[in-house]
Amino acid sequence: MPTRFGHFDDEAREFVITRPDTPLPWLNYLGQDDLFGLCTNTGGGYTFWRDAKLRRLTRYRYNNVPLDVGGRYLYVRDDTDGAVWNPGWKPTKAALDSYECRVGLGYTRITGARAGVSVSQLMFVPPGEDVELWQVTVRNDSERTRTVRLWSFVEFAFYEALNDMTNLQRTLSIGEVVVDGPAIYHVTEYRERRDHYTLFGCTRPVSGFDTSREAFVGVHEGLHEARVPAAGRATGSVARGWNPIGSHEVTLQLGPGATETFAFVLAYVQQGEPKFVAPGVPDTSAGAAVLDRYRQPGAVQEARERLRSYWDERLSAFQGTTPDEHATRMLNTWNQYQCMATFNLSRSASLFETGIGRGMGFRDSNQDLLGFVHMIPARARQRILDIAATQLSDGTCYHQYQPLTKKGNAEIGGDFYDDHLWLVLSTTAYLKETGDTSILTEPCGYADVEVPDGAGPSASLLDHLETSIAYTLAKRGPHRLPLIGHADWNDCLNLNCFSTEPNESFQLAGDVADSQAESVMIAGLFLYACTEMAALYDHVGRPADADRMRAAHADMLAAVEEHAWDGAWYRRAYDAAGEPVGSHLDDEGRIYIESQGWCLLGGAGADNGRARQALDSVAAHLATPNGIVLQQPAYTRYRLELGEITSYPPGVKENAGIFCHNNSWIHLAMCRQGDGDAALASYLSVCPSAKQDQIDTYRLEPYVYAQTIDGPDSPTFGQAKNSWLTGTAAWTFVVLSQGILGIQPGYDGLRVDPCIPSGWGGFTVTRRFRGSTFRIRVDNPDRVCQGVARLVVDGVDVPVGPIGVPAEPRVVDVVVTLG
Ligand code: BGC
Ligand code: NOJ
Repeated sequence: MPTRFGHFDDEAREFVITRPDTPLPWLNYLGQDDLFGLCTNTGGGYTFWRDAKLRRLTRYRYNNVPLDVGGRYLYVRDDTDGAVWNPGWKPTKAALDSYECRVGLGYTRITGARAGVSVSQLMFVPPGEDVELWQVTVRNDSERTRTVRLWSFVEFAFYEALNDMTNLQRTLSIGEVVVDGPAIYHVTEYRERRDHYTLFGCTRPVSGFDTSREAFVGVHEGLHEARVPAAGRATGSVARGWNPIGSHEVTLQLGPGATETFAFVLAYVQQGEPKFVAPGVPDTSAGAAVLDRYRQPGAVQEARERLRSYWDERLSAFQGTTPDEHATRMLNTWNQYQCMATFNLSRSASLFETGIGRGMGFRDSNQDLLGFVHMIPARARQRILDIAATQLSDGTCYHQYQPLTKKGNAEIGGDFYDDHLWLVLSTTAYLKETGDTSILTEPCGYADVEVPDGAGPSASLLDHLETSIAYTLAKRGPHRLPLIGHADWNDCLNLNCFSTEPNESFQLAGDVADSQAESVMIAGLFLYACTEMAALYDHVGRPADADRMRAAHADMLAAVEEHAWDGAWYRRAYDAAGEPVGSHLDDEGRIYIESQGWCLLGGAGADNGRARQALDSVAAHLATPNGIVLQQPAYTRYRLELGEITSYPPGVKENAGIFCHNNSWIHLAMCRQGDGDAALASYLSVCPSAKQDQIDTYRLEPYVYAQTIDGPDSPTFGQAKNSWLTGTAAWTFVVLSQGILGIQPGYDGLRVDPCIPSGWGGFTVTRRFRGSTFRIRVDNPDRVCQGVARLVVDGVDVPVGPIGVPAEPRVVDVVVTLG
C-alpha cells in the first residue's frame, strides 16, 4: 500500500521514498565488509571503517537541530537565478520539482530535479573494498544549453569519534589536508602515529576545491546557507587546523537532453611504509591509485554490478513465496538485509546509537548470528570465535567489545548473567547450518588468560560452551534458579542496583552484598541451552555428556515448575529480598513477557498444560494491536529494588513498551503449540511493512524492524523507536523461516515442519543448505496449521523426518503435504 511517503518496489528490492520530509529521517546502510556508511533519505549520515568509535572518517552531529544535517551533500547552483539547491533537499531545503530516494540493498539513490536540471546520486560501497562511491548523473531536461555548477561536500572527522567531539583544544589545531588536483587527502595525525588517511576524489576534472569549512560554509552560517555555493565559486582553501572538509567544484556544459555521469570517491586508505615521499610530505600514492582505478571507463558501473550480484547471491540462500505479502517481502529481502546490518554493526551505529556508546554486544552479536549464519557461514564462524575470546575463564563475559581491537570494553564490564548462554545458541546454529564440527576444537582462549608467546590460545570453543553451562549451574539462588547479576536480557531489570544516585549507570552500579536475586528468564534460556548441548553431544557421539546435559535440564526444570509458576503464568524473577517479580502478588509488573517466552522454549509447561495457560495469559494481559507489551501493569513509580525498568515513563521501552525482539520468542512458543494463526497475526502486529496505514503514528522506516513500539500506557501508543540495530531482526527471521515456514536446519539434514495460518493453502521456499538447493513446496489441502502427513523427496515418498544432504551438491525437490 503506497503512502504519501513512498512504497515498496518488490521487483527491484527497493523502498521508494517519494518525499524528503519523512516523519523522521529514514536510514539505509552502505557497506557490507569493513567500510560502512549511514545514509538517510536526504543524504545525511557518516562513514567509518570497521569501528564507528575508533575509525570515523566523516563527521555527524547526533540529535542536532535541525535533525540530521551533515552528510554526503551535493550543492547545485541554478545558472538562471543563482538559487542553490540540493537533490536530496537538505541542507538548503530549496523546493524541488521532483524528488525520489531509492533505498536498496547496500545502496541509496537520491534523485532531485529543479528548473530543468536533474541530479541523481547513487551511493554504495563495492564488496570487499574500503571505498564509498557516489555515482552522479546530471541531466539537462530543458530546451537550452545549461551551465551546471555543483559542489560536493563532506566534513572530515578525526577518526576517534569521542575525542573528535570533545577534545576541541586539540582537534582545532591539528587538522591537515593535501590537495592534488581532484584528489583531496585528509591526513590529520598522519604525521605522527597514523598510517592511514581518507581520500575524497572526483573522477572528472574539477573547476575548484575547498578544504576549509570556514571558507566553504562560513563561521556564522549553517550548511543550508554555505558561502561557496551562494557565491558561485570555490576558493581553493587549504585547511590548516580548525575543521577540514572536502569539496570539489564541478562545472558542466550540458546541451538540451544531455547527460553527464561521473563519480566522487571516498576511501579509507592504509598507505603502509614508507609513509612519506620526502620529510613531512605524505606519500598518497595508494589513494591516488584508488582514484585512478575508478577513473577507468565502466569501473563504477562494474562495481555496481558486483554489489548487485553480491546481494543476489546472499539472498538466494532463502527465498520463498507465501500468501502473505508482508511476510514474503520481509523474509525474502528486508529481514535478511537487516540481519546483515546487525551482524556487522551489532548495536554500535544507527540514528539511535551514536557509534561511541556501544560496540559489539556479547549477547547481541550471538543472537544476531541466528539470522545471519545461512548467508555467509564463514563469517559467522569467525565471529563466534571472536566473541568467545572475550569470555573470561570463570565464565563471565565482557558485555561489549570494540570491533577494531576485538578487545572487551572494560568500562561496560560484565556480570550480566545471561551473556555466556547465548554463545551456546550461536554455536549450535552454526553447527546445524554447516555441519562443521571442527569449530568446536578451534582454540579461542579466554580474555584473562595470558598465553606464552607462540603457545597459542589453549581453550577450545567447546571448553567455552562447557564453561558457560557450568557458570549458570554454579550461580544459583535459594530457589535453585540462576542468579541475575547486573541484569539478564532485560538490561533494565536491575535487581541488585538500588540506585539513588542520578548520575550512575543502572547497569554498572550496585552489587548488593550477598544478593540472591534470581532470574526465571535465565532459567528458561538455560533449559534451552541444555537441550541444544544435549543434541550436540548426541550428534558428536558423546552420550554420557548428552545425559549430563539432560540431567542439568531436568534439575533446572524442576526448579522452574516448583518455584516460578505463579498460577497462570511464569514469574519473572526473585528480587534481592526474595520477593517474586512478575507475580499476581504485586500491584504493578504482575506479568512479564520474557519468562513466558523462554520457559516455554526451554520446555517448561509442556506436559502440564502450563505452556498453553501462559500463552493465554499473554494474550489476555499483554497483547495489543501493535504487538505484545513487555509487562503489565506498567510501573508508575520508581522502585529502588527493580531499577531502570521503573525509570521509564509507562508504556515506553522496558516499562511496558512493546519490545519487538521478545515478541519473537512468544511467536516461536505459539508455533510450538501449533498455533500458526496466532503466530502470524502477532508477527504482523510488529511488522513495519504491515504498518503503512498508520505510518504517521509509527513514523520509522517501513522496511526494517524497530526495537520498540510505545505501548498502550503511553500517549504515543504505536510510535516506533530505535529502528535497525535490534535483535528483532535475527529472531524474526528465525520466527518466519524456522517457526512459521518450519524450514529447520538440523544435524541430520533439513527438516520441514511448518506452523502456518490455517487459511494458507501452502507456500514455496528455495533454501540453500550445505551446498545443495532444496526446492520446497508445502501443500495444505486440509487447511491445518501444523502436522506433516506426507513427505516426497525427488518424487519418492519417504518417512517424515530430516531430509538428508546429498553427498554431491545438487537440487533436491521436496513436496510436503500437511494434514
Ligand atoms: C536501555 C536498554 C539498553 C541499555 C543498554 C538502557 O537504558 O533502556 O534498552 O539495552 O540501556 O545499556
Ligand atoms: C538492548 C540491548 O542491546 C539488548 O542487549 C537488551 O537485551 C535489550 N536492550 C533489552 O533490555
